[in-house]
Amino acid sequence: MTEHFLVRGGARLVGEVEVVGAKNSVLKLMAAALLAEGTTTITNCPQILDVPLMADVLRSLGCEVTLDGDTATITTPAELNHRADSPSMGKLRASVCVLGPLVGRCKRAVVALPGGDAIGSRPLDMHQNGLRQLGAHSEIEHGCVVAEAEGLHGAQIWLDFPSVGATENILMAAVLAPGTTVIDNAAREPEIVNLCTMLTEMGARVEGAGTSTLTVEGVERLRPTEHRVIGDRIVGATWAFAAAMTMGDVTVRGVNPHHLDLVLEKLRAAGAEITTLDDGDGFRVVQDERPRAVDFVTLPYPGFATDLQPFAIALTSIAEGTSMITENLFEARFRFIEEMVRLGADARTDGHHAVVRGVERLSSAPVWASDIRAGVGLVLAGLRADGVTEVWDVFHIDRGYPMFVENMQKLGADVRRVDDEPDRA
Ligand code: UD1
Repeated sequence: MTEHFLVRGGARLVGEVEVVGAKNSVLKLMAAALLAEGTTTITNCPQILDVPLMADVLRSLGCEVTLDGDTATITTPAELNHRADSPSMGKLRASVCVLGPLVGRCKRAVVALPGGDAIGSRPLDMHQNGLRQLGAHSEIEHGCVVAEAEGLHGAQIWLDFPSVGATENILMAAVLAPGTTVIDNAAREPEIVNLCTMLTEMGARVEGAGTSTLTVEGVERLRPTEHRVIGDRIVGATWAFAAAMTMGDVTVRGVNPHHLDLVLEKLRAAGAEITTLDDGDGFRVVQDERPRAVDFVTLPYPGFATDLQPFAIALTSIAEGTSMITENLFEARFRFIEEMVRLGADARTDGHHAVVRGVERLSSAPVWASDIRAGVGLVLAGLRADGVTEVWDVFHIDRGYPMFVENMQKLGADVRRVDDEPDRA
């Protein structure tokens, strides 16, 4: 049975919320477990749909995987199956991250083209080019990325764009490639730093994590490790936007506030008072007045994350004044605006830009989630709409937000999960 959410607007969110491990980190760390024979343990895993899907992908490659609460235990065999084409592959984007480890370990890989959010075209040319520089042949054949190498070797690689996925795949192949690999214009996201930390614990030699240049000295083999997933900065930021939008007072724990420096600065510009917690493990957002208009431009980290763009639109749609939102990564993300217009937002797009004129209040309507973040953005907008907003296709939200409705209710929001009626499903 599929489900939808009912969101009654009007509540001010108040209280404390705990954020667990990041979706965009745990899935890559699970893929990294392929690099070492033996048992790797990953803790602080979020209980979201994508984690068991990734576990299925790893099982199809020959691993034994158990998921117990927030701990994933992955036992990787000496001989891996190099074909990753199980049905789970098509259900999440991060499944493509098995490509680098398989090329590193098996020197060949057949990886079904991944699925994931419908947020625009998501080519793999930079992943393939990087692997080619390391000595592999790579083509797309019958819906799969095929990569094969007689042997890998270190290389100087310049990425056209600091792609998160390409950086991860090239890095995970390079750690087992003899010689020195330099990845220039590498992505700098905290999730990449977390991956580099885990790889180093496994015996890899990686320098430059968190900078645009990663230098890797290939080693012969890696050993398994136990590693903790970093807190989900995107989920943490979601609660920060929810607090600002509802003129609330929310303390967010489990996230490094420095991973959100720019985001928190933007919310301050919108009128929020933000303090970081003394232990450095979170922050508090208090908003007393209607948010003010703020411009947002999405860019690779440390720029404003594209994953937060729907929340920027939701916030500015009820802000005082006019804001400009610029999307530089995923062109289809502005589809979200069509749903926001159903809720009474005054927004229009022109290419990469959206102009949002803030209105005093939105008005409830049935709306459809097109991806994880758009779905959550609609719930946030529903919190500021008159009446009850129905948000459909919420399975997207379940892919990325553990205990979403429970956390909303804990903070005082009137959000309920209900089964779809058969004639609407
Ligand atoms: C990851 C995140 C996603 C986030 C995105 C950008 C995961 C599972 N997903 O996605 O939530 O929105 O980073 O922060 O971690 N590109 C190419 N060729 C390539 C690879 C990418 O042209 O070979 C382009 C993409 O179309 C996009 C841009 O590069 O315009 C950035 O994509 P990338 O950083 O690779 O995003 P993902 O790793 O797919």
